Amino acid sequence: MTKTRSRYQPPKAPATLPLDLPWPLLGNLSPQLFMRRYWHQCPLLVRQAIPAFALSKNAGFPLLSPISDKALFGYACDGLSEARLVEAKPWRLHHGPFKKKEIPATSQRDWTLLIQGVEARHPAAAHVLSWFRFIPDARLDDLMISIAGIGGGVGPHVDSYDVFLIQMEGRRRWKISGQADLGLRPHLPLKILARFKPEQEWVLEPGDLLYLPPNIAHEGVALDDGCQTWSVGFRSPSYRELLSEGLWRLAESLEADPALAAIYADPNQEASLDPARLPTQLEDEIRQRIQSLSFDQNPSFINGIAAYLSEPKPQAIFTPPDPLLSPRALGASLKKRALVPHPQTRLLIRNETVFCNGDAVTEGQDLATIKAWQTLAQHHHFARERMQKSSKNKGLSTIHAEELDGSVNPPLIAKNNSLYEAYCFGWLLLQ
Ligand code: SIN
Ligand code: CO
Repeated sequence: MTKTRSRYQPPKAPATLPLDLPWPLLGNLSPQLFMRRYWHQCPLLVRQAIPAFALSKNAGFPLLSPISDKALFGYACDGLSEARLVEAKPWRLHHGPFKKKEIPATSQRDWTLLIQGVEARHPAAAHVLSWFRFIPDARLDDLMISIAGIGGGVGPHVDSYDVFLIQMEGRRRWKISGQADLGLRPHLPLKILARFKPEQEWVLEPGDLLYLPPNIAHEGVALDDGCQTWSVGFRSPSYRELLSEGLWRLAESLEADPALAAIYADPNQEASLDPARLPTQLEDEIRQRIQSLSFDQNPSFINGIAAYLSEPKPQAIFTPPDPLLSPRALGASLKKRALVPHPQTRLLIRNETVFCNGDAVTEGQDLATIKAWQTLAQHHHFARERMQKSSKNKGLSTIHAEELDGSVNPPLIAKNNSLYEAYCFGWLLLQ
């Protein structure tokens, strides 16, 4: 009788991560040491970063990836995930969504399928992403899964972002180089290095992890069919992008500044023999107003950048809940159930303000609602029941205990409450 192989079931990270304890995931470094010694600086190979794989293999029951090939192919075909298919011989790139028959069989060679944002599709991917929340959410991007036939890969290249590559099924050979020559091969649909000179190489087995900082040349080639590599990727916005997003939102906020509605006046203008020239007085007046904006300190500017970084991915789709509960019914449900962010919702906190999917959702809200949003942003979970318990019993160890003091009542869910609005948009889900 053949025993069906079990799938690895990644646990969700605890609400409060132990930042100063050794983690097998990081080669027994604590997140604090990892960030100081490796993050953004040098590669790190961790054998058996997920010990369950070796333990099960040694016991004679090797684990499979948490997500089946079939499910991944489904994501590449249903149009809800960004997907790319790369063929290696010759190099070809195709963009999804795909038809089932366009995806090669895993027994075929030299192809790889890349699916972005899998944390929004499968809880196992969301759990793996939660392990990396010792790095600010503003930097965390998504979890991409590649599934490949033997020989499949995307060629030697560099990425402008940090990446944790976790081997989840089959083996992949990684070669890396710190080379300065980043010249590309011409006339190819992919950015492939013209002269890749590997300095180190390893074969990664299921459960192994390779961390690469930006600009390290690398190439991963699948050694087994159905090879799955899970990549936790980070966002790398340019300063230009951040500043222009902040400035754009600052410009929008000028609408609300009555002082700027004053009409430009030039009572001191003298008769001019040079009418085509822009008056220097106009330039001076503008300069004065720009200085009075002091935009580096202006909340609209910095909050504008926070709002931008909290925007969901462009392909995120939110659908209103069905049935839609009334504010009163949602309030009642929260006595027993919790609110959690939709997997594609992004939350960020700056000072006391919480940004959700590009909006400052705490602005103009009551204290209890602000606290609820802060809990949601920090722990991705808000339960009113626990809030009451933890307010009453300070010693109770709940995930919310540290935010709450006894003076905060649970939020009153009304129509214009931003928690209710976010629930109606499908940004927050009732769990
Ligand atoms: C892959 O998983 O095949 C590619 C990931 C990468 O090189 O960044
Ligand atoms: Co890469």
